[in-house]
Amino acid sequence: PFRGEYETLILAHNSKGTDKRKFKIISGDKLALTPSIGWNHWYAHYDRITDKMMREAADIMVSSGMADVGYQYVNIDDCWMNAPKNNDSMRVGPLRDEKGNIIPNKHFPDMKGLTDYIHAKGLKAGIYTSPGTLTCGGFTGTYQHEEQDARQFSDWGFDFLKYDWCSYGKIAGKDKSLEAYQKPYRQMGKILKSLDRDIVYNLCQYGMGEVWKWGGDVDAQSWRTSGDLGFELDRIFDVALRNSGYRQYSKPGEWNDPDYIQIGWIGSARGMGISKLTTMPANMQYAYMSLWSLMASPLIYSGDMTKLDKFTLNILCNPEVIDVNQDPLGECGLVIKRDADRFVMIKNLSDGSKAVGLFNRGKNAADVDINWSELKIFGKKTVRNLWYQKDLGIYKDKFKAQVPAQGVVMVKISKLR
Ligand code: GLA
Repeated sequence: PFRGEYETLILAHNSKGTDKRKFKIISGDKLALTPSIGWNHWYAHYDRITDKMMREAADIMVSSGMADVGYQYVNIDDCWMNAPKNNDSMRVGPLRDEKGNIIPNKHFPDMKGLTDYIHAKGLKAGIYTSPGTLTCGGFTGTYQHEEQDARQFSDWGFDFLKYDWCSYGKIAGKDKSLEAYQKPYRQMGKILKSLDRDIVYNLCQYGMGEVWKWGGDVDAQSWRTSGDLGFELDRIFDVALRNSGYRQYSKPGEWNDPDYIQIGWIGSARGMGISKLTTMPANMQYAYMSLWSLMASPLIYSGDMTKLDKFTLNILCNPEVIDVNQDPLGECGLVIKRDADRFVMIKNLSDGSKAVGLFNRGKNAADVDINWSELKIFGKKTVRNLWYQKDLGIYKDKFKAQVPAQGVVMVKISKLR
C-alpha cells in the first residue's frame, strides 16, 4: 500500500540556527538504493568476535556520531557459528540441532537479543555465511541448509547477508562455467527474495566469472570485485582504478564492492593479528575514503570501534564526502585523465554538479588541474573543497590544486548559487 516516492522536507533547529534538507523516501521492490554504509567486524576482530563486541560496536556507532552521518549496518562476519575444530573451545560444539537448525557458538548466546539490541538503536544488523560446507575461517557453512538458514537469519532479525564462496569450490569441483559460479548465488538470491523480510544481499566470491556483469541478475545488491583488500592495502590506488573499470555495472541497488575501509586500529590480515594503529599515511587515508565515495562503493568501516580516534572519525564522518558516496544517481566515478602519478576521477551528482577527485600517487606534492572542457561544462562555477567543507571561490574555465603526496584534493563543482 505504501509503494511510491515520497518527497519530505527535514527541518532542524538548535541554538546555532536552522537548516533544512529534502529527503526522498522510495518504497518498492528495490533494496539498497544507495550504497550500504556501516561497520563489519572482520579486520578488527577476526575469529575473536563476540556478542559483547557487536553490541559495543552498535553503542559506539551512535555515541561517536557515525550514525548521525548515515552509518547504519552493524555486521557480523565469519566465526559466529561452531567449527569442527578451533583453538577456542567456546567456538567448538554441535553445528546444528536435531532439526538441522544452525547453532551459534557460545560467544553468541542470543542472536535475536543481539539484533533487537542493534535495532533498538535505530541501526540494522548483518550476518555472514558461505554456500560451502565450511566458511573461510573453517566454521559451519550453509550447504544443503540454505533455505533453513536464510529463514533463521530472517527470524533472528538480520537485515544484511554476506555470502562468501570459501569452501564451495569443493562442491563446484572442476566446473568453471559461468553457471557454476552463479549457481549458489542465484539459489540464495531466490530464497532471500521469497522471505517476508528485506535482507540486503552482498556477494563475496572475489570477482570470479566477472560477477559485476551478473550480480544484479541473481538479485544481489552488491558484490566484491576482488580478493581481500587486507592483503592489498598498500595498493589502494590500483585497487580503486581496477574497480572503477566496472563502473558501468554500478547503479542504484547494484553496487561494486571493493571491500572495507580499513583505517584506525586494524588487525593484520596475515595471521588475523590483534589490531594496531594503521601505518597508512594520513593523506592516503583521505584518498582512500575519497575514492570509495566517488566510486559509490559500500562504505563499511572495518576497524576497532572501541579505539576510534578523532582523526579516523574525521575521515569516516565528513558529511559532504559521504553525500558524494550516497548520491541517489548512484554513478561510479570515471577516470578522465591519468599519467604515471596523477589522475582525475569525476562523478556526476543528482543536483547537476560534479564531484571531482584530483589524485596524486607520487612521493612528492604535485599540481593537478582540470579544464571545464574535460568536464563538458561551461562558464563560471563555484568550487567547494569537500574535505575542508569550504567554498574556494568562483572559477571560470579551469581549476588547479597542489595535491599532497599520495593524497587527494576533492572538490564539488556546481553552478553559481
Ligand atoms: C574471506 C572474505 C573476507 C572475510 C573472510 C572470513 O576471506 O573475503 O571478507 O569474510 O573470508 O573468513
